[in-house]
Amino acid sequence: MKNITYLFATILLMLICSSCNAQKKATLAQSPAPAPEPEPANITHLLDVAGPFHTFLKYLESTNVLGTLQTQANKTDGEGLTLFVPKDDSFTSLKNPSLSNLTDTQLKQVILFHALPHFYSLSDFKNLSKVGPVQTFAGGAYTLNFTDVSGTVQVSSGWSVTKISSSVWSAAPVGVYQIDMVLLPEAIFGPSVPSVAAPPPAPEAHVPAADAPSDDTSDADKGPPATKEPSSSYRVVCSLVFALSGVLLLSVI
Ligand SMILES: *[C@@H]1O[C@H](CO)[C@@H](O)[C@H](O)[C@H]1NC(C)=O
Ligand SMILES: *[C@@H]1O[C@H](CO)[C@@H](O)[C@H](O)[C@H]1NC(C)=O
Ligand SMILES: *[C@@H]1O[C@H](CO)[C@@H](O)[C@H](O)[C@H]1NC(C)=O
Ligand SMILES: *[C@@H]1O[C@H](CO)[C@@H](O)[C@H](O)[C@H]1NC(C)=O
Ligand SMILES: *[C@@H]1O[C@H](CO)[C@@H](O)[C@H](O)[C@H]1NC(C)=O
Repeated sequence: MKNITYLFATILLMLICSSCNAQKKATLAQSPAPAPEPEPANITHLLDVAGPFHTFLKYLESTNVLGTLQTQANKTDGEGLTLFVPKDDSFTSLKNPSLSNLTDTQLKQVILFHALPHFYSLSDFKNLSKVGPVQTFAGGAYTLNFTDVSGTVQVSSGWSVTKISSSVWSAAPVGVYQIDMVLLPEAIFGPSVPSVAAPPPAPEAHVPAADAPSDDTSDADKGPPATKEPSSSYRVVCSLVFALSGVLLLSVI
C-alpha cells in the first residue's frame, strides 16, 4: 500500500515537473523577437549621395581615416562623431597652400582634423563657442574654435575661418555638416592667412597618437538582448507545487 502511494506521488511529481518545463519552453518560444538595432549611419553612403563630396571621400579612403570614423559611428554606446565636409570645389579652389606637397602623415592629420570624437547637433555649437578650443580626431594641438555669429556657426582652424553652410546628417551618434572651406590646421600650415608670400610648409610635424580614440572597439560588440523569462509569479507557483509534493512524498515514506 505504502509502495503504491509512493509510486503515485512520484508520477505526480514527474507530471508537474514536465508541465512546468513545457510551460517554460512555450513561454520562451512565444516571447517576441528582440527589436533589431537601427543600422548605423554609413559615412560612405552619406557622402556619396550628398555634396558632391567625392574629393573628401577619396581622401578619407586613401588615408585610411574612413575606417576609423566608421568604427566610431558604429558605436551605439560611445561618444559619437561629428564630421565637417568641404565640397569638391573647396578642394579645387585650394591653390596656395595646397594639399599636394604634404607628406602622407600630414595629409592624414588634415583629414582627421575634420572630425570631432563626439556628436554635436547644430544647436550644440552655440555652447561650444563658450568652451573654447575643441579637440579633433587629429589630437594634440589640432583644435578648432567655434563661434556663433548671429545664428551662423563659424569654424576657426587657426589658419582659416569658415562656416557651417548646411547639415548633411544630424542624428545621434553621427553629425555630418558641410563647410565652405577645407580646414587647414595651424600645426601644419602656420598661424594665419598668408598676405603675399605663402607660408613655407612646416617641417615634418611631430605627430600625436591620432588613432587613439578609435582603437577601443571592444565595447562595440554587445550580445543580443536576453530572451524574456517566464513570469516570476508562474515560477513561484511551480516552486510551491514542488515544495508541497516534497512534503507529500516525505509524509508517505
Ligand atoms: C555603405 O555605403 C556604400 C555606398 O553606398 C556601400 O557600397 C557599402 O556597401 C555600404 N556599407 C554598409 C556596411 O552598408
Ligand atoms: C559598421 O556597421 C556595419 C553594419 O552593422 C558593418 O557592416 C560595418 O562593417 C561596420 N564597420 C566598421 C568599420 O565597424
Ligand atoms: C609644391 O612643391 C613643388 C616642388 O617641390 C613646388 O614647385 C610648388 O610650388 C609647391 N606647391 C606649393 C603649393 O607649395
Ligand atoms: C548649453 O548651455 C546651456 C546654458 O549655457 C545649458 O543649459 C545647456 O545644458 C547646454 N547644452 C549642452 C548640450 O551642453
Ligand atoms: C581658439 O581660441 C583661443 C582663445 O579662446 C585662442 O587662444 C586659440 O588660438 C584659438 N585657436 C584657433 C584654432 O582658432
